Amino acid sequence: MKINVVADVKNTECDILIVNQFEGEKTTEELANKYAVEEDKFEGKFGQTYLLPTYGKQPARKILVVGFGKKSEFNSDKFRIATYKAVKKAMQMKAKKVAFDFSALEFNWAEQFAYGVYFADYSFDKYKTKKDDKIEEVFVNCDESLLRRSEIIMEGMKLTRDLANEPAAFATPTKLAEVAQSFGLDTKIYEKEDCEKMGMGAYLAVGQGSSQPHKFIHMKHSCPNPRKKIALIGKGITFDSGGLDIKPPSSMLTMRDDMSGAACVLGIMSKIKELAPDVEVHGIIAACENMPGCSAYKPGDILTAKNGKTIEVDNTDAEGRLTLADALCYASELGVDEVIDIATLTGACMVALGNVAAGIVGNDCEMVQNVISAAKEVGERYWELPMYEEYKESLKSEVADMQNTGSRWGGASTAGLFLKEFVKDVKWSHIDIAGVAFMDKPMNEFIKGASGAGVRALINYISK
Ligand code: BES
Ligand code: MN
Ligand code: ZN
Repeated sequence: MKINVVADVKNTECDILIVNQFEGEKTTEELANKYAVEEDKFEGKFGQTYLLPTYGKQPARKILVVGFGKKSEFNSDKFRIATYKAVKKAMQMKAKKVAFDFSALEFNWAEQFAYGVYFADYSFDKYKTKKDDKIEEVFVNCDESLLRRSEIIMEGMKLTRDLANEPAAFATPTKLAEVAQSFGLDTKIYEKEDCEKMGMGAYLAVGQGSSQPHKFIHMKHSCPNPRKKIALIGKGITFDSGGLDIKPPSSMLTMRDDMSGAACVLGIMSKIKELAPDVEVHGIIAACENMPGCSAYKPGDILTAKNGKTIEVDNTDAEGRLTLADALCYASELGVDEVIDIATLTGACMVALGNVAAGIVGNDCEMVQNVISAAKEVGERYWELPMYEEYKESLKSEVADMQNTGSRWGGASTAGLFLKEFVKDVKWSHIDIAGVAFMDKPMNEFIKGASGAGVRALINYISK
C-alpha cells in the first residue's frame, strides 16, 4: 500500500472517495448531502457508513460516507478507529484506490490517519495460499512529514505483529537473534556459555527444558550527545508451555505470543536508526523457550540470579519474571538513566484490565506518569497498578531469598515487586501487556491476533 499526499483529493480518480459526516451535520460532498443526508436521512452516527455510486459524475466511482458521531464527543482515538473502519469497508468492496477528504477536524490528524490506515492494511496471510485483498493506493491531503514518520512506526509495528503471530516453530530464540542482527545496529548475542559466565542462573533455568538454545540479545542505538539513555527489555519466551507445571490446552493455545514484549522491542529497534531520536537506546531480550523437556527446571529448584539473589522455584509457569530478573540486572549495569521492561507477564493483569489496557508499575512516579501520557497521546492505554509492600509477603521463601510466585490475588502487583528486586540504581517502569498483546477476537483497530502493543507508546516516550 502506498499513501500519496495530493492537494486536490476530490479530483483524484479512485474507486472510493471517503468523506466524513458528524452526527446531524452535512458533508463536504454535494452528492452525499443530496442522497445520503437529505434523502436517506443518514445520521452519521459513529462507525456508520453509507455507500453511494457516482455514475461517472465524479472522478471517484463511489463515495463512502463515514459517520464520525457527535462532534462534541469526537477525539483522536475515535478518528483512528473511524479511519480504520472506513478502510476495512473499502477493502471488503475490493477497492484498490481510495481517496480521503476529511474535514472539520480540530487537530493535526496525519499521525492517527496513518495509524488507522496501517492497522486496516495489516493481516497475517503468510501461510495462506490465497492472499487477503489489499488496497494499493491511498490519496490524502495532510501533514506529510507527520504522515511519513507515522508510516515508519507502523512498519516497525508490522514486524512486531508478524513475529508475535508466527508459530513458535518459526519465531525461535535463534530467529529473534537473527532478526536483531539484521538491523545494522551494534548488536551482541550472548550464548548459553556467556550467560553462565555472567551468572544468569534464573534466565538459564527457564530455557533448559527446551531443545532451542538460549539467545540473550543486546542491540544498541548510539548518538553523538544523547539527551538520555534508555534500556528497553522485552520478555522473549518464544513459547510458554508452562514447563513442568504445564498449562491446560486452552491456556497454552496462544502462548506463541509470550514473546510479544521482545517483538515490540525488535519492532522499535528495526526503525530506531530512521527515527533517529537523540537518545541512546538499548534493546534487550533474554530469549528462550519454556518447555517441560527431560532437563527442565523443576519446582523446588533454587536459582541464583545475576545479582546474587536466590529464588526458590514455586511454579515453573512463572518463568517470565525469572528471565526478566537477569535482564534487569544486566540493564542496571549499563549506566542508563531509565529501564523499561515490557512483558506478557501475568494472567492476573489480564483479569484486572481485560484486553483494553496494559498494566504499569515502576519505582519512579514521574516516569510512570510520563510513560502513561506518552501512551495515551498515540492511542494506547496504560493503567497504573499499586506496588504496596504488603504484596511482597507472599513471595517469602523459607529456603531462599524469595520464591517466584506469590498469592493468586494481586498477581500483577506481586510480579512487579518481584522484578523490583533486580533493578538497581536506575529509574524503572514495567509494562504488563498480557491482556493487550494478543486479541482473541477483533476489537477497535485490531484484528484477532497480535496487536503490536507498546510500539507506538514507547517510540513516543523515547522521542519526547
Ligand atoms: N505468559 C504467562 C502470562 C500470560 C497469561 C500471558 C495469559 C498472556 C495471557 C506467564 O508466564 C504465566 O504463565 N503466568 C502465570 C503466573 C502464575 C503461575 C503465578 C499466570 O499468570 O497464571
Ligand atoms: Mn508462564
Ligand atoms: Zn509466560
